[in-house]
Amino acid sequence: MPRDSQNPLNAAPPPGARSRRPRDPRSGSARAAPPSLPPRPAAGAAPRARADEAPCAPGPLFPPSLLLSLLVPPPAVLAAMLLPCVRSVAARRLARDVPRACSCWAQGPSPRGYSRGAAGKGLVLGVYSSEKEDGAAQFTSAGDAFDRLVSGKLRALLSLCGPPLKKGKTRIFHGLHQDFPSVVVVGLGKKNAGINEQENWNEGKENIRTAVAVGCRQIQDLEIPCVEIDPCGDAQAAAEGAVLGLHEYNELKQKKKPVVTPQLHGSAESEAWQKGVTYAEGQNLARYLMEAPANYITPIKFAEHIEQKLRSFSNVKVHIRPESWITTQEMGAFLSVAKGSAEPPIFLEIHYSGSANTDDSPLVFVGKGVTFDSGGISLKPSSGMDAMRADMGGAATVCSAIVTAAALHLPLNIIGLAPLCENMPSGKANKPGDVVRAKNGKTIQVDNTDAEGRLLLADALCYAHNFNARAIVNAATLTGAMDVALGSAATGVFTNSSWLWTHLYEASILTGDRVWRMPLFEHYTKQVTDCPLADVSNIGKYSRAGGACTAAAFLKEFVTASHWAHLDIAGVMSNKDEVPYLRKGMAGRPTRTLVEFAARLSKDSHNAK
Ligand code: BES
Ligand code: ZN
Ligand code: ZN
Repeated sequence: MPRDSQNPLNAAPPPGARSRRPRDPRSGSARAAPPSLPPRPAAGAAPRARADEAPCAPGPLFPPSLLLSLLVPPPAVLAAMLLPCVRSVAARRLARDVPRACSCWAQGPSPRGYSRGAAGKGLVLGVYSSEKEDGAAQFTSAGDAFDRLVSGKLRALLSLCGPPLKKGKTRIFHGLHQDFPSVVVVGLGKKNAGINEQENWNEGKENIRTAVAVGCRQIQDLEIPCVEIDPCGDAQAAAEGAVLGLHEYNELKQKKKPVVTPQLHGSAESEAWQKGVTYAEGQNLARYLMEAPANYITPIKFAEHIEQKLRSFSNVKVHIRPESWITTQEMGAFLSVAKGSAEPPIFLEIHYSGSANTDDSPLVFVGKGVTFDSGGISLKPSSGMDAMRADMGGAATVCSAIVTAAALHLPLNIIGLAPLCENMPSGKANKPGDVVRAKNGKTIQVDNTDAEGRLLLADALCYAHNFNARAIVNAATLTGAMDVALGSAATGVFTNSSWLWTHLYEASILTGDRVWRMPLFEHYTKQVTDCPLADVSNIGKYSRAGGACTAAAFLKEFVTASHWAHLDIAGVMSNKDEVPYLRKGMAGRPTRTLVEFAARLSKDSHNAK
């Protein structure tokens, strides 16, 4: 995979970055160090499991004709008789012939002259569902070319080994070609799949993402460190499938999955491939931040991580605002949540100037950054509470989208705002019935301390109005009710602007990370403004009814801009198995949709609001 050293999504942290002691935003002095990672192996010791250090087996490389003959009945008996001699022939050939073509060769040969990793790469090839009666495989152009290279043996083996491949299903063939000891063929579904009007996404792209992710994981199971990917007619989607499909949060485990590096097979479409890698690495950054334990990603650690990712860009400025700054800004609602925790709050502010004219009105992103939401005095049940380490998903996705926009050099200005704090119960915490004052002077009755996200966002949205924004878009894991309404199918979008909605919606069709429009009716506004002690209550008066809509109506009380959208991402926060190209865990959704949306905005005429 071509790695762009300018791309901070790829860049390793600078030496000492991990060990730098955070400033105490309250006092400016160094604070106690956060928990450290498990002890690292001593220099020279293998730090992580590498596939190319697997026990040095000769690998299954033997002449294709012999392989075919093994598949002819009676295979079991024949194979048992022939395999040992085949293996030793293969081993000798391997030692003699194998070129060091693989750029993933990192460790050099093993003492015996070769290792399984050095023997070659994996190859993932797509195959469409057959439209013909005879069920003959319909390869992609890369599949066709490879089949010709091995004299038609791939096609022959595919038809031998079972029924036509269904979408997302795989077959693995070993020993077909010396450069690719293992070839995974994966079903892509219908050849001409495109936009599916019912599903609101591009089915062809989704099929490619899924197929490539499944294929790459098969290669990872085989502990092959390098895999070439068939672009399947859409190299961006293929790269996204590979990079998203292989991602896993491994940071704190001593035993890690082997690292697999995906590369584009062939030289065409390399720009689209790189774009897909960048989009996917952006989402993986958000997944990383969301998955990490709350004692590792505190407000200051979050801010420093993002600052480090943006350090190499001369057109990006990052301000890590301490509590004293938040106080001078009179962000009373945000501070009321933060004061319940021993961990100091941070207001992270990012300015990306990608437009040729630095004065062009920016797109302003705002993200809820609750690094842990216990519920506060309105304490959440303990079961499942650990998932609330991802309650900074809004901040993670918008900041990752800006890192990605910078890596892509998108020609527009973007400002990112992330109020970061913990929501904890303590003697200093908000109590139900307390009244606090937001930056715009409105008073808020805190009827439930677990509805804390809207308090942070109220102040951040007021602040967002300082920048003459083209549009203000906030993302927040705001309500369990959003999850009840749509589950993980789509992000709920509440917006006062059809122009903004159209851009978000069209972006999401391409990315497959969908959005669905939700109502901002006056009906819901009445339910939060009918409040005994203050201008607005932080919960709707009919308890849980329409919970996602009353939360959005609350936020609207702090917005005067004509192009504002609130994205409730609580339902898409994590993945079990619904999105097949994401593993189980925090999903980082909808980072790619935000990036695609920003890319579209950068092409839209500046006055078209
Ligand atoms: N962070 C939660 C919402 C959430 C729930 C996100 C599940 C992701 C998954 C939010 O702060 C919260 O607790 N909201 C309350 C609001 C209620 C008290 C009005 C909720 O949804 O229960
Ligand atoms: Zn909460
Ligand atoms: Zn929350």
